[in-house]
Amino acid sequence: MTVRINPSILSADFVNMERDLGLLGSADFVHVDVMDNHFVPNLTFGLQMVERIQATSPVPLDVHLMITDVDKWAPYYAELGCASVTFHAEVTNDPVALARALRAQGAKAGLALKPQTPVDQYLSIVSEFDQVLVMTVEPGFGGQKFMHDTMPKLRLLAQEKAQRGLTVWLQVDGGISADTIGIAAEHGADTFVAGSAVFGAESVHQAIADLRQLATEHTHPHESR
Ligand code: DX5
Ligand code: ZN
Repeated sequence: MTVRINPSILSADFVNMERDLGLLGSADFVHVDVMDNHFVPNLTFGLQMVERIQATSPVPLDVHLMITDVDKWAPYYAELGCASVTFHAEVTNDPVALARALRAQGAKAGLALKPQTPVDQYLSIVSEFDQVLVMTVEPGFGGQKFMHDTMPKLRLLAQEKAQRGLTVWLQVDGGISADTIGIAAEHGADTFVAGSAVFGAESVHQAIADLRQLATEHTHPHESR
């Protein structure tokens, strides 16, 4: 199974974004957290900034929309050429329609679940998505503690994926570090977002390599991609 490491630029230096993006050439995607100070109590950046990040990044963008009005805004991120656009299940009435619209624009579609959001009602629609993001902290801030109690949701998704032979990527985001990445991998995650663990390290390149190795070591070899 392929493991993906997506550093989150929420932990980058915002006034040295070009420099920090330049450190991420060995990552699979750059994870870009868009926050509106409404869906979450924090504010980052919007389309204009993401357009420049897209033009500057050495690897494709994995955009995580923590905004309320996704039906309006998500398609604009796909239009910019962002490789992957993930929106939250809690703020969409028709997640399948939005996923289909994003895919029709050529982007990967992702569905994100906050820690308290059950996965059960979404299991039947995972085939409509390229990625499901199980939040392992309350969305809004970097540097929080990994929530172990989100792991049963990941397990359910991994079972659904295996049973139906799906290729959907299972992403975790929040508190992922050398101490926790193995736990998430053991529960079926294959795509790992890490902010503080990457940008807080002495060597960003080495941190990405170490996380990749740990995730691979803890991945069940029999699981399909
Ligand atoms: C939090 C964001 C994360 C954040 C993770 O709401 O979605 O992407 O950057 O940061 P760490 O890895 O420091 O927990
Ligand atoms: Zn995120």
